[in-house]
Amino acid sequence: MRHSTFRQLEVFEALARLGSFTRAAEELFLTQPTASMQIKKLTDAVGLQLYEQVGKRIYLTDAGKALQSTCRELFESLNNFEMLVSDMKGLKQDKLRLAVVTTAKYFAPRLLGPFCNQYPGIDVSLKVSNRERLLERLGNNMDDLYILGQPPEGLEVISEPFLDNPLVVLAPNDHPLVGKRNIPLARLAEEPFIMREPGSGTRIAVERLFLEQGHAIKMRMELGSNEAIKQAIVGGLGLSVLSRHTLALDAATGQLATLDVEHFPIQRQWYAVHPSGKQLTVVAQTFLDYLRSAARNLNEIPCHHAQQAGACPLITAPEPVATPGAKSPRSTSAMARRRR
Ligand code: PGA
Repeated sequence: MRHSTFRQLEVFEALARLGSFTRAAEELFLTQPTASMQIKKLTDAVGLQLYEQVGKRIYLTDAGKALQSTCRELFESLNNFEMLVSDMKGLKQDKLRLAVVTTAKYFAPRLLGPFCNQYPGIDVSLKVSNRERLLERLGNNMDDLYILGQPPEGLEVISEPFLDNPLVVLAPNDHPLVGKRNIPLARLAEEPFIMREPGSGTRIAVERLFLEQGHAIKMRMELGSNEAIKQAIVGGLGLSVLSRHTLALDAATGQLATLDVEHFPIQRQWYAVHPSGKQLTVVAQTFLDYLRSAARNLNEIPCHHAQQAGACPLITAPEPVATPGAKSPRSTSAMARRRR
């Protein structure tokens, strides 16, 4: 039996599964006489009849059934081994396809830096688009992992919060509301507003707050970029609400002030998300693990607003917790995750 070849076992497995020499030979691209010969050699090696043929149909004997389940286990183990090996190779030379919402570009590349240095063979692609586009990509399973400001509703996903994302009210340094305490939302609603484009997660959060509090937004302008919005605020075109992350490492930041308005900051979080049916590659899983610890270690970024001296707690990482309405993150091993 030990001298039987892997090929003979493959032919037998196909024969047992398909119940026909013709179909088994076809599946394995063999001629029928070759398939019959392989089975004969295997039967001789086992020393027991493996099947009975009635008309054209094949019926497995008890020995045949036992061999069939042995083959399955064997092929499954080999399959898993192959995946493990390719994942191991993959960690050195595979791809990581990451898609993030517009605002996440303020921290995602910085998080990627040390990861890429640690695994120089990994080819990383980073797609940046607004929430709406990102959800389309997620629905079409186009990337390995997604970073967005709120887990999507209506899509089966696994999501995990990993970083705070406070949304703050920004004004030019010389705005009359600068320095005022606990400004009522109604007062803010009197100011002209610069809004992100429809489909932006930031915009959705701001609109939701105003709606919940029964105020209308006086929209003066719509801009599809956080950077353009900051320039427009400095230019005196109006106020806006943006993620505090947009203030990092930026020249315009010194000319902006954060207003102390009731209900602000809107406390949001960044989530790492992937479709729940998706088998994460080892690279993607490794990045996810890295993300959890790297987010905790991100340095606090100094806040340059004139009115807020000292450091602002831009980045504080929460403990990963289960997301309401979404499945909790998996913690199974790479092997177990990759079972088909
Ligand atoms: P956005 O998303 O960049 O599309 O506004 C950010 C968020 O969802 O918080």
